[in-house]
Amino acid sequence: MNSNKTILTGDRPTGPLHIGHYVGSLKKRVELQHAYRQYVLIADMQALTDNAGNPKKVRDNVLEVALDYLAVGLDPALNVIVVQSLVPELAELTMYYLNIVTLARLKRNPTVKDEMKQKGFGEDVPAGFLTYPVSQAADITAFRARYVPVGQDQLPMIEQTNEIVDKFNSLYGGEALLRCEPLLSAVTRLPGTDGQGKMGKSTDNAVFLKDDEDTLRRKIRQMYTDPLHLKASDPGHVDGNPVFAYLDAFDPDKAGLEELKEHYKKGGLGDVKVKERLFEALNRELASIRARRREFEKDPAEVLNMLKKGSLKAREITSVTLGAVRAALLLDY
Ligand code: TRP
Repeated sequence: MNSNKTILTGDRPTGPLHIGHYVGSLKKRVELQHAYRQYVLIADMQALTDNAGNPKKVRDNVLEVALDYLAVGLDPALNVIVVQSLVPELAELTMYYLNIVTLARLKRNPTVKDEMKQKGFGEDVPAGFLTYPVSQAADITAFRARYVPVGQDQLPMIEQTNEIVDKFNSLYGGEALLRCEPLLSAVTRLPGTDGQGKMGKSTDNAVFLKDDEDTLRRKIRQMYTDPLHLKASDPGHVDGNPVFAYLDAFDPDKAGLEELKEHYKKGGLGDVKVKERLFEALNRELASIRARRREFEKDPAEVLNMLKKGSLKAREITSVTLGAVRAALLLDY
């Protein structure tokens, strides 16, 4: 039996975290922190791979993301919260791994392919962006993580990591690196408030954890619903209607919600009513998160200090991995 219960999870600091992150991963992390050794990585170097011209954005969002973590209840005493760039072993490992990954393989990574299309990079893709899965493999292996909680879109990263692990171990005849497994989340992704695909950090279709009550009310009021439900008396669609997707995620009264859906489908229930119910449910959950955030916001220097401590702690394990890798490569001078 493998008794390694180490988890690595993380986010790119390119924007504050939203309620999609909350139901998709943050809630799960808060549970996992009690049963696992959990490293939570704020991947600032990865964020820079497509934000080279915008270091201020990345820097500011490192603090935002850290505050979001603390606000939802990730406890620095139970987790190691790490800033990627403060752990230099990760960059060094990336350099070594790049030699055993081909350009053709990098171009085949479906997630990177999608992102490149979205961002319109074409051949002018920053080399760092194309190779970020290798840097992510460095993250995962450096922490000797067995489990990586992911959504579907991150599965190719796990696959590519394990390829690197296998190739490295077989080339250099050792067991320097450990394979990892995805912990797939059962939760489906929340759609954006505009009903157009998933919620994004950088698009304006997100409800952020830090949004105040007025912002929340406005965003919900403007939410896309069923375009065929023009009058309250019209029968409405629940499927594909983001208001109901959010209610499914946040309304604790499941029986009441079922009645509401039936009423909406039959006709006679206006969007305003449904949105009021959503506001109540969501605001109840976000209120405590906001309150906790406000406490931590009072002392950003202390939050930064916590990040530095976590990053230093992280180096205890990443330096062991780097030592093994350097030895395997005959670089143990
Ligand atoms: N790629 C992840 C994201 O876009 C962030 C990340 C970087 C990560 N390194 C990681 C996640 C290691 C899990 C493990 O959100």
